[in-house]
Amino acid sequence: MAPGITVPEPAVSTERSRSLQSVTELYDDTLRFYLNGTKVAIDSVSIDPEITLLEYLRGIGLTGTKLGCAEGGCGACTVVISQLNPTTKKLYHASVNACLAPLISVDGKHVITVEGIGNVKDPHPAQERIAMGSGSQCGFCTPGIVMSLYALLRNDTDPSELEVEEAFDGNLCRCTGYRPILDAAHSFSIKNPCGKAKAKGGGGCCMENGNGSGKNGCVTQGTDSANGDQSFKRFTPPGFMEYNPDTQLIFPPALRKHQLKPLAFGNKRKRWYRPVTLKQLLEIKSAYPSAKVIGGSTETQIEIKFKAMQYTASVYVGDIAELRQYRFSEDHLEIGGNVVLTDLEEICLKAVEHYGPVKGQPFKAIHKQIKYFAGRQIRNVSTPAGNLATASPISDLNPVFIATNTMLIAKSLDKETEIPMSQFFKGYRTTALAPDAIIASLRIPVASEKGEYLRAYKQAKRKDDDIAIVNAALRVSLNDENRVKSVNLVYGGMAPTTVAAKEAISFLRGKKWTDPATLEGTMNALEMDFDLRFGVPGGMATYRKSLALGFFYRYYHEVLSEMSVKASEIDHDVRGEIERQISTGKKDHEATQAYEQRILGKPNPHVAALKQCTGEAQYTDDIPVQKNALYGVMVLSTRAHAKILDVEIEPALHLPGVVEYVDHRDLPNPEANWWGAPNCDETFFAFDEVFTAGQPIGMILADSAKHAEAGARAVKVQYEDLPAIFTIEEAILKESYFDHYRYISIGQDEGAFDEGVWKNADHVFSGVVRMGGQEHFYLETQACVVVPKPEDGEMEVYSSTQNPTETQSYVSQVTGVQANKIVSKVKRLGGGFGGKETRSIQLSGICAVAANKTKRPVRCMLNRDEDMMTSGQRHPFLTRWKVAVNKDGKLQALDADVFANAGWSQDLSGAVVDRALSHIDGCYRFPNVHVRGRLAKTNTVSNTAFRGFGGPQGMFVAETYMEEVADHLGMPVEKLREINMYKPNDPTHFQQELKDWHVPLMYQQVLQSIDYKERRKAVDAYNAEHKWKKRGLAIVPTKFGISFTAIFLNQAGALVHLYHDGSVLVAHGGTEMGQGLHTKMTMIAAQALNVPLSDVFISETATNTVANTSSTAASASSDLNGYAIFNACEQLNERLAPYKEKLGKDAPMKDLVHAAYFDRVNLSANGFYKTPDIGYVWGPNTGQMFYYFTQGVAAAEVEIDTLTGSWTCLRADIKMDVGRSINPAIDYGQIEGAFIQGQGLFTTEESLWHRASGQLFTKGPGTYKIPGFRDIPQEMNISLLKDVEWEHLRTIQRSRGVGEPPLFMGSVVFFGIRDALKAARKQYGVDEVLSLQSPATPERIRVSCVDPIIKRSLIEPREGEKSFFMAI
Ligand SMILES: Cc1cc2nc3c(=O)[nH]c(=O)nc-3n(C[C@H](O)[C@H](O)[C@H](O)COP(=O)(O)OP(=O)(O)OC[C@H]3O[C@@H](n4cnc5c(N)ncnc54)[C@H](O)[C@@H]3O)c2cc1C
Ligand code: FES
Ligand code: FES
Repeated sequence: MAPGITVPEPAVSTERSRSLQSVTELYDDTLRFYLNGTKVAIDSVSIDPEITLLEYLRGIGLTGTKLGCAEGGCGACTVVISQLNPTTKKLYHASVNACLAPLISVDGKHVITVEGIGNVKDPHPAQERIAMGSGSQCGFCTPGIVMSLYALLRNDTDPSELEVEEAFDGNLCRCTGYRPILDAAHSFSIKNPCGKAKAKGGGGCCMENGNGSGKNGCVTQGTDSANGDQSFKRFTPPGFMEYNPDTQLIFPPALRKHQLKPLAFGNKRKRWYRPVTLKQLLEIKSAYPSAKVIGGSTETQIEIKFKAMQYTASVYVGDIAELRQYRFSEDHLEIGGNVVLTDLEEICLKAVEHYGPVKGQPFKAIHKQIKYFAGRQIRNVSTPAGNLATASPISDLNPVFIATNTMLIAKSLDKETEIPMSQFFKGYRTTALAPDAIIASLRIPVASEKGEYLRAYKQAKRKDDDIAIVNAALRVSLNDENRVKSVNLVYGGMAPTTVAAKEAISFLRGKKWTDPATLEGTMNALEMDFDLRFGVPGGMATYRKSLALGFFYRYYHEVLSEMSVKASEIDHDVRGEIERQISTGKKDHEATQAYEQRILGKPNPHVAALKQCTGEAQYTDDIPVQKNALYGVMVLSTRAHAKILDVEIEPALHLPGVVEYVDHRDLPNPEANWWGAPNCDETFFAFDEVFTAGQPIGMILADSAKHAEAGARAVKVQYEDLPAIFTIEEAILKESYFDHYRYISIGQDEGAFDEGVWKNADHVFSGVVRMGGQEHFYLETQACVVVPKPEDGEMEVYSSTQNPTETQSYVSQVTGVQANKIVSKVKRLGGGFGGKETRSIQLSGICAVAANKTKRPVRCMLNRDEDMMTSGQRHPFLTRWKVAVNKDGKLQALDADVFANAGWSQDLSGAVVDRALSHIDGCYRFPNVHVRGRLAKTNTVSNTAFRGFGGPQGMFVAETYMEEVADHLGMPVEKLREINMYKPNDPTHFQQELKDWHVPLMYQQVLQSIDYKERRKAVDAYNAEHKWKKRGLAIVPTKFGISFTAIFLNQAGALVHLYHDGSVLVAHGGTEMGQGLHTKMTMIAAQALNVPLSDVFISETATNTVANTSSTAASASSDLNGYAIFNACEQLNERLAPYKEKLGKDAPMKDLVHAAYFDRVNLSANGFYKTPDIGYVWGPNTGQMFYYFTQGVAAAEVEIDTLTGSWTCLRADIKMDVGRSINPAIDYGQIEGAFIQGQGLFTTEESLWHRASGQLFTKGPGTYKIPGFRDIPQEMNISLLKDVEWEHLRTIQRSRGVGEPPLFMGSVVFFGIRDALKAARKQYGVDEVLSLQSPATPERIRVSCVDPIIKRSLIEPREGEKSFFMAI
C-alpha cells in the first residue's frame, strides 16, 4: 500500500491554534458520504486524517481499485465521484485519481468504485464489453479503465467517437495496446459518418468541434438519413447486455438535499478544514496563514508523497461555491480560482461562442492548453489557482494568463488585491501572493475586435497527459498598417519561471508584421533571449531553443495568413499541428477458422477477464492483511558507488509504529546474502559498499506502510563516494566488463577477413547503433507477502513473480530452512514482461528475512519509483558493425561488436547478449559472420530480462545496417532486403536450417495488401508538397527463435486432478501475467479430456503442486506447459478408457470419474515435457539453438512535424505466422500489445539518469512515457498467416509461441520516422546517411532535421561541459 508520512510536530502552533480553534469551533467533525450507494460516516478519531481516498478504499477491502503509481499518472486508481457541480449546477460524475484525492474531498458526494457497478454474475455493460472484447490481459489497469468508461457513459449516454477516444487520456495499459479497449468502448458511441474526425486540435468533423449540428448529423456530409450519412447509435453487439442509463446507481436522494457543513477533521498532528464559504476560508487563513490551501490536491499530494512535505493544517477549498463561479463581463471573463479544469474547458467554449471567435481568442487558447493538460481524472479536480500558486516553470496555463494580461484577484480577510499576472511570479516557485491571501479569481480580458492575434503552443514527450518541454502563448496587437502596437511572447520551459522574451518583444514594437525582416529580426532576438547552456538543468538545450524559435515561426505565419498578403509570402505548410483521426483497426477473424476444433483454435476470451473487469481478481497486494502483519520499506542506496561508512538506524526505531530493521546481519550465514542466476554475484543487502543508486541496504518494518516509509527515510547512511561508471561508452573506455564473452563465427576465418572479404567485396560500410533500454512499467509493481508458520520454519510466500521456483530456492537460502517447507505461490501478476523473472526475488528474499526474524507476516508492495530504481530494465545496447556488400546488393560479411549495459550485477545479461548475437542477422543471409558480445559493468541498476530478451536489440542492429547500407548504395532498402532475405531451408549464422520459413511469403503478402508501391508514390508526392510535414514508409520482417538458450530450462511439469463432479483442476509450472497462459492451458485440458471449458480450473501456480518449474518466459510457456498438461490428460484418458468403452465415448466426465473411483483408479496425473532436438554449443557453433522461429512482417506509414518533432503513425499493418493458433483472440492480443510496447521502446520511452548524482531521473509515469491510448497507429490492421502447411512444427496444436516475437515489429514505426527524416533532410540537400539513435524521441527527430531554424538553435558544449541528463 502507498505509504505516506507521519508528522511529529503538533498540527498547529498553540497560539495560532487558539485563534484557529475559535474560528472553527462550530465546525462539524464527521465526514459523511455515500459509497456505492451506501451511507458512510467517519469521525476524526477513527481514521488517519492524512489518508487518501485510495488508501481508505483498499483499507476497507475494496481492493478492486488499484495502486499503480500514486502520482496521478496511470489511472489504475480511477473511481467516480458524483456530485452536484457548483459551477454548472448539474449532476456530474467525475472520474478521479483516488491516489491523490484526500478523503475529506468526498464529503457530501457519492463515491462509486468498480465493485459498485457490477460483478461477475451481474456485470455492468462496460465491464462485460471490455472483458469479452479482449480489453483486459493482466487486468491491473482494467478497473481504472472501466471506471473512466463508466464516467463517460454516466455523463453522456450517447458519447461521440471523439469523446470515447478522449475518455481514456488519463489511463495507461501496458498489455493490450489499447485497440481492443477502444473497440469495446466504441460500441457505446455514436458513429460519425464523414470520417474526417480529428482527435483534438480542431478541424475535422463538425460534430466534434462543436460547430455543426452536433449529434444530429454531420454538416459536411449532409444529414440526409436516406443516404445513410446521418450519425447513428451503434447496435448493442449481439449477445451483449444493453446499456440502460435508467438502471444505473442513482445519485442518493439524500445528497441532493445535503447541506455542506464546514468541517474540522483530524488529530493533534494533522488537521483538515473544509470551509464552505469564502468568508470561512479567509477567516482560517487570517487566523493561521500557513494553513495549506488545497484545491484538487494534484500538486500537493505529489509533494507529500514524493518530497516528504508536511502540511500540518490543510484547508480543502473545492467545496466553496464562490471560488467555482464564472461571469462574462463586457471586456473580460472572470473565473473563480478553483473552477476545475474540466469546467474551464466548457466555460472557454461558451466564451468563444459568447464573444465570438475574434474577441474569444484567449479562451480558444486556454481551451487548447487544457485539452492537452494531464488526463481527464486530473482535469476533473485540478484548478487554475493550484496551477498558478505552484508557479511551475512549465505550467501550461501561466503563459496564456500572462500573454492575455490577465488580472489575478487575491483576497484576504481584510483586503482584495489586484495583481497583474505579469507581476505574479517572483522567482523559481515563488509568487507575489501574501501568506494570508488566496487566489479568489482571474479576470481574463477578451481580445480586441481588430488586429489582435493570440495563439498557444505546447510540446511534450507525449501528446496526451504529459507536462510540457516548452510551451508558449504569443500575442500581438497590430494597427491598421500592420505595425506592432503591443506584444507579449511568453514562454514556459525556457527558464526557472514562466518568462517573457524581452529582447524579441522590444525588437517587435513598432515593426511592420508583413515585412520579412520582422520575422528574421525577431528570430535573432529570440536567440538572445534563450541563449541556453548545453548543460542547462532539464537538458535538451538545442531542442528547447528550436521549439522557442519554431513556435514563433509558426505563429508568425499563422498571423500572416490572416492578413491580405501574397500567398507566396506565407509559409502555409508550417501552420497547424499534426492531427489524429479517430483510430480504427481490423483483424482477420477468418484466418484461423480452418483449424478450429471443439475448443482449441476458438477465440475464447481470457478466463479471468470478467473478474479483472469487476475488480474481483486478486493480486498480491489484495491479499487481506493478517492480524499482526508488518509492512516493509527498503532502505536504498542514494549513491552510485560508495563505501558505506555508517548506517544509523536509531532515529528510525524511535518513530511511532516502527518495529524492526533487518539487514545482512540477519541472514543465517554470509553466503546466504548472495543471489543471482546463473552467476551468484548480487547481494540481498549491501554491506561495506554500494554499487548502484537504489541498491537495498536494509528494510524497516512497521505497523503501517506510512510508518515504515517514515522509518526508512529516517535511517541515516553515511557514504564515502568512489568513482562510478554509467554509460557503455565509459565502460568500453575503462574496459569495465563482466567475464561473459560469446561469439558466433561462420564462413571465412575471422583472421582472414582483412585479406579476404573486406578486400574482395565491392563495398565495406560501417556504423554504430545505439539503442536505449526500456522500463517494464508493468502496472502492478513488485509485491510480496510472506507468512511464516509456527512449525518447522515453514513459510508461504505470495509474490508477483514469473519464477516461483527460484523464489522458493532463495527464500530457503535466506531463512536457512529446507525448500520442502517453503511454498511459493502466485495467483496472477499485473504484468511481468521479464521484469519479474529474477528481479522479484530481491524483494521476496528481503521480506522472507524480515518474516523469519520477526516471526510475523511481512508485506511490501513497492512504490513506482522504488520499483523503477531497483528492478532494472531492458539492456541498452551499443553495437559497432561492419558490412561487406557487392555492387549488386549481395551481402558478403558481417562483423560486429555488441555491448550491453548490464548494470552492476550480471543477472540474465549474458543470455540477453547471446540472444542478441543470434538475432543480429535479422532475416538476411551472410556467408561470413563474426559477431562478439560483451557485458559492460557499470554502476547502474542491474538490467534484466524484458520481452524479446536481446532479440529486438539484435534485430534492430540488423535493420539499421540494412537501412544504412541501402542508403550508401543508393538502393531502396526493400530491394536490398529482397536480394538477401533467407530462403526456405537456408542455414542461419548459427547453422540452423530455416524450416517452415514463411517470411518471404508474408513480406510479399504485406507489400501487396498495403499497395506498397502506390503508397510509396503517394508518400513521395506528399513530401514534395510539404515543407514542414513529412511522411515515411517502412516495412520490417522478423524471425524470433523460440526456446530458452539455457537448455535445462526447456522442461515443464503439470498436475491434473479429476473430481467426482466431473470438474478438473489443473496445475502447471507457468504463471499467469496477462498473456492468457491459463486460458490456453485450460483449453488444452478441456479439449484433451473432452470436457466443457467451464469444467476446467487453474487456481494458482505453486511450488507444492508442480515443483522445479522454469520461469514463465521465452515465449515457450504454452509449448512447454501445454504439452505437460496434454501428457497428464493422456495418462488420465488411458486410465478412463475402459469406462468410456463401458459408458459410451460421450459419457459425461462425472460418470466416468465416478465409475473409475470405485474401481480404485488413480484420478490424478503428473505430466512432463521437455523440448526435443535442441542443444546448441557456443564456440564450435554446433547443435540446434531454437526449436523453431516465430515469424512476422509489419509495415507502417508515419507523419512527422519537422518543426517540433511531433509524429503520428498513420497506419500499421502486421502479419504474423503463429502456426495453428490455440486461441486467436489471445494471440491477436499479444500481437497488438507487443507491437505497441515495441513502438514505445523505439520512440517515446527514454530512461535518463542525473549525471551529477547517478540516480535514475525517469522513475514514474510523469517522466517516463509509455504509449497512451492516442499514440497507437490511427489505423492498425492485423492478420495471421493462413493457407500454409507447418510440416516441421511439432508443438502442441502446431502453434507457435507469440509473447515476444511481435515486439520487434514496433520498430517499423521508428524506421518510418527515419524514412520521413530522410525526406526532410533531402529537401535541404543533405544526403549524408542518417544514423538515428533509438528511441526516436521528438527531440531526436527535431535535431536530426537540417532546416535553418534547427541550425541556428544548435548549442554546442563548452569545453568539458556535459549534458544535465545522461542515457546509459
Ligand atoms: C499526473 C499529473 C499531470 C499533470 N499535468 C500537468 C500539465 O499537463 N500541465 C500543467 O501545467 N500542470 C500539470 N500538472 C500539475 C497540476 O495538476 C496543476 O498544477 C494543477 O493545476 C494544480 O491544481 P490543484 O487544484 O490540484 O492544486 P493543489 O495541489 O490543490 O494545490 C497546488 C498549490 O496551489 C495552492 N492553491 C490551490 N488553490 C489555491 C487558491 N485558491 N489560492 C491560493 N493558493 C491555492 C496550494 O496551496 C498549493 O500550493 C499535472 C499534475 C499531475 C499529478
Ligand atoms: S495510482 Fe493513481 S494514477 Fe496511478
Ligand atoms: S491489461 Fe492493462 S496493464 Fe495489463
